[in-house]
Amino acid sequence: MSVLQGKKVLLGITAGIAAYKTAGLVRLFIKSGAEVKVIMTPASKDFITPLTLSTLSKNPVHSTFYDQEDENELWNNHVELGLWADLMIIAPATANTLSKMTNGVCDNLLLATYLSAKCPVYFAPAMDLDMYKHQSTKNSLESLQSFGNIMIPATSGELASGLVGEGRMAEPEDIVKFIEQDIMDKLPLKGKKLLLTAGPTYEAIDPVRFIGNHSSGKMGFEIAKAAANLGAEVFLVSGPSHQKVNHSLIHRIDVTSAQQMYDACHNHYMDVDIAILSAAVADYRPKNVVDKKIKKKDASLVIELEPTQDILKSLGSAKKNQFLVGFALETNDEVSNAKKKIESKNLNLIVLNSLRDKGAGFAGDTNKITIIDSDFNQTEYDLKSKSEVAVDIINEIITRINA
Ligand code: CTP
Repeated sequence: MSVLQGKKVLLGITAGIAAYKTAGLVRLFIKSGAEVKVIMTPASKDFITPLTLSTLSKNPVHSTFYDQEDENELWNNHVELGLWADLMIIAPATANTLSKMTNGVCDNLLLATYLSAKCPVYFAPAMDLDMYKHQSTKNSLESLQSFGNIMIPATSGELASGLVGEGRMAEPEDIVKFIEQDIMDKLPLKGKKLLLTAGPTYEAIDPVRFIGNHSSGKMGFEIAKAAANLGAEVFLVSGPSHQKVNHSLIHRIDVTSAQQMYDACHNHYMDVDIAILSAAVADYRPKNVVDKKIKKKDASLVIELEPTQDILKSLGSAKKNQFLVGFALETNDEVSNAKKKIESKNLNLIVLNSLRDKGAGFAGDTNKITIIDSDFNQTEYDLKSKSEVAVDIINEIITRINA
C-alpha cells in the first residue's frame, strides 16, 4: 500500500510543455489511492485541457478566482483549497511561477493557493537549459527551498527546444516515488521498532479443549496498522485470531498459549523501542495438560489451575529504554486500579477500558479509553471505532517519546 493512500493531493500546473505529462501524474496519484484536485495557471490550459484533468482527477479543475462562464459558480476559495490539501505539488513549475512564488506575487489562483497552503509543497521545475542555469532561476530555487518547499530536481535530456541539457521535468513515476520516499523518511515512527501483543491466549486442557476468552484481537491489529502507517517496524505477537494484516512493516508471530506469548515477547523485547501489550492473556492455565481426550464421567470434574506468567510485569522488570504500554480492563475503581498497575508493572502508559462504559472492551468494533501516563496525567477519549482509538494511542506515545 502506498503512503499516498487517502492523502489529499493538490496539483498545480503551470505553462510549460511538460504540462502534457500531468495527465499521467494525476493517474498515478489516483492509482496510489490519493484524492486529487487540480488548479492551473490560465496559460497552462494551452498545453493540456482542464477537461482531461477533471476527468482523470474526478474533480472540477479551477484556474481563475471565479468561473465567468458559469453564473452558478461560486468564488474558488484559494484558502479552502490550501487547507484541504495534505500536500501540494507544482508540476511543471516554470521559471516565471518559481520567481513569483519566491517573491510572494499572487496574481492567479495557483499562486494565491500556494501562499495559503499550510501543507508540504513540492515543486518540479521544467524549463529550457539556459533558463534553468540562469542566476535568477538559481536564486528562486534556493529561496523556495529555504522557505521549506521541497524541490524535485529537473533531469537532463532532450528539451522541447531541441537543445540537450538540464531542465526536463522529472518523469511522473519519479515524481510520485520522490514524494512517497519523502513522506516515508519523515514519518514520526520511522526507524522505530515496536513489539505488540494482541488477541486471546488458549490454555490447553487436553488435546481438544482449552480455556480461552472472547478477545477478537481487533484492537491490537488496529494498533499494529496505525504504528506501521507511521513508519514503525512492528512485531505483532498474536494469540488465535481471525484478524488479517497485510503490511510490509508488520511481522506477524502467531502463538497459542500465554507461555508461547511470553517467549515470543522476550525474544524481541531487547531490540525494540516501544512495547504495547494489548493481548487478553489468560491469568491461569490447567496445571496438568492431559495427553488424551478426557472422557465424560458422571462425577463432576475438577481442573486444577496454576497462574501463568505476567508478561507485562516481566517486561517492566527487564526494561532498559523501552517505552512500555499496558492495557487495563476494569469493572470498578478503574483509575486507581490502573494507576496501581502503572507502578507495579513499571509502565510508561496505560490504556484503561472500563466495562461500565457501553461499547468498550474487547469483543466489539468500538472502544472507549482513558490514557494515563507515569506522571498520572489522564486523558479521557470519547467512544470511537477501534481504528480511531489505535491512532489516538499511537499519537499519545509519539508525543511522549519525542518530549
Ligand atoms: N497481561 C500480560 N500477561 C498476563 C496477564 C496480563 O501481559 N499473564 C497484560 C495484558 O496484556 C494487559 C495488562 O497485562 O496489558 C493488564 O491485564 P489485566 O488482566 O487488566 O490485569 P492484571 O494485571 O491481570 O490484573 P487483574 O486481572 O487482577 O486486574
